[in-house]
Amino acid sequence: MCGIIGFNGMKPAKDVIIDGLEQLEYRGYDSAGFALLNDGEITVRKRTGKVAELRRMCENDDNPASCGIGHTRWATHGGVTDTNAHPHRCGKVVLIHNGIIENYRQLIAEYALADKLVSETDTEVVAALLDTLYEGDPKDAIRKLVKKLSGAFALCIMFEDIPDTIYSIRNVSPLVAAESEQGSVIASDLTALIEFSKEYFVVPEYHILTLKKNEIIVEDLKGRVVKPEKLTVNWDISSAKKNGYPHFMLKEIYEQPDAIRNTITPRISDGLPDFTDDGIDDAVFENCKRVNVVACGTAMHAGMVGRHIIESELRIPVQVEIASEFRYKDPIIDENTLTIVLSQSGETIDTLEALKLAKSRGSKVISIVNVKGSTIARESDYVLYTHAGPEIAVASTKAYTVQVSAMYLIACRMGLVKKLMSEKDARRFMSMLVNTPNLIEETLSMANDIKRIANHIKLSPDLFYIGRGLDYTMSLEAALKLKEISYVHAEAYAAGELKHGTIALITENVPVIAIATQEDVYSKVISNIREVKARGAYVVLVSMDEEVNDATICDKHIRIPKTDSRFSAFATAVILQLIAYYTSDAKGLDVDKPRNLAKSVTVE
Ligand code: AGP
Repeated sequence: MCGIIGFNGMKPAKDVIIDGLEQLEYRGYDSAGFALLNDGEITVRKRTGKVAELRRMCENDDNPASCGIGHTRWATHGGVTDTNAHPHRCGKVVLIHNGIIENYRQLIAEYALADKLVSETDTEVVAALLDTLYEGDPKDAIRKLVKKLSGAFALCIMFEDIPDTIYSIRNVSPLVAAESEQGSVIASDLTALIEFSKEYFVVPEYHILTLKKNEIIVEDLKGRVVKPEKLTVNWDISSAKKNGYPHFMLKEIYEQPDAIRNTITPRISDGLPDFTDDGIDDAVFENCKRVNVVACGTAMHAGMVGRHIIESELRIPVQVEIASEFRYKDPIIDENTLTIVLSQSGETIDTLEALKLAKSRGSKVISIVNVKGSTIARESDYVLYTHAGPEIAVASTKAYTVQVSAMYLIACRMGLVKKLMSEKDARRFMSMLVNTPNLIEETLSMANDIKRIANHIKLSPDLFYIGRGLDYTMSLEAALKLKEISYVHAEAYAAGELKHGTIALITENVPVIAIATQEDVYSKVISNIREVKARGAYVVLVSMDEEVNDATICDKHIRIPKTDSRFSAFATAVILQLIAYYTSDAKGLDVDKPRNLAKSVTVE
């Protein structure tokens, strides 16, 4: 939920840190700040608002310090205020934090810290406690500190009397680090690290890092030096830039064809799905009698599409679970339950904890993750990495469609292994999956049509998406996309269910976007559309019809390319993403960084 960066190098740190914070801003943008350590003097600059405002505030600062830490905040404890912004300083200690300290109130009482505190944050309590424990040996104080903390944390710390040194330690919350020619760097994720080095390592939990200017020392809590595995970034810095697009979200919508090709192509051999290079053992499919899909938000919606395909093609029962619910429902799991976890960031705490619960009950776990080496990936039995490249916009688009494509690969592989799908059907299935990037490219060509719809709906207080079967699943994702970036209150409804109450909300000009791509229920959806049209709704129909000129059905028709209705989700997704994008843009909103949100929800 927050962005963290630390730099200890051979050049002034201020601008390096602010530049890094700009790369990390999608992780949280309520406030931003940094601390610099120079000749025994700590300077802290922080404020509410975006990183650009912090940069303007400090543009005339000429602090030569080449060692510093920076933070972008998504508020958890305490409001969005300058005082609550990070870094937090207490005595000789200054630090930044991503996570939630669950026992911070007990620590205030246990160590009588109240008089030391000026903010409302759990983070300042950590700084005050560390300052209390500090008697001149930083690592000793940090060891004592982490024994007292309960919860998730990624900390970067500097001590006033320890020159040119940054310390760091984490539990659950993500951190990656790299040694480079410019110096030592540590950050919440690769978007701020790639500027310095393509080689990095994931910071091991409960290990103390000491970042000097030309090396990073990693020690376990017993003081033993360890050498973490070095990883290589599999994308370049331009992937984390807009490259001429007005927003990251639009760029990522247009990247979907290549993102899907990059994800599925390495898993196809001789026209059939092949997970050999992913190390996913066929046995995990052979033993599977039922599937639990666990995720949050858009990732969960991708899992729902997967359920539709697995159940309809293989007749294997699939339960899709909201991760935050799954964790506390005492789920029914056994060794024949396969758990599929989906997460773009690989750091969503609810999904991570749900994964651990499933494993503890004997289920094998396959995770579909977009960030290499992320926590969820490392905790899983098997990982199917998607290759969408970094997804910067808070609203997930290309990560969604590649997750869906990964679910289709799993469905087909499972069908072959369990002999529930003939090789002939599997080849036909895979040829249609291979064609989905082309469907998306054809759909993208009608983007201008979507702009006109967006202008019509942007002032609507309420809007309904309706559909049946796979199209109802798509409606759920459509409603989330529209809500999270345009702030229009959208609701997804099973088209056949409207009559049972909600149709009371359909009055003159209320927008209803109806998705009707499923042939077996097409006529039923058209009947449902007539019901809302008869009550004055403004209806947009999304279907494969060449054209629809019947005013009793819709005011506007959006045609998606004709395809087997099992594969309509890919084109439909693009339409729904563009509706949300253009509506948000027409309202002049911050499409990439919508209010109250952050890209990765690493707190419960
Ligand atoms: C996507 O548009 C949302 N920003 C959000 O629902 C997201 O999908 C969810 O938080 C899960 O994130 P993850 O895929 O990184 O686990």
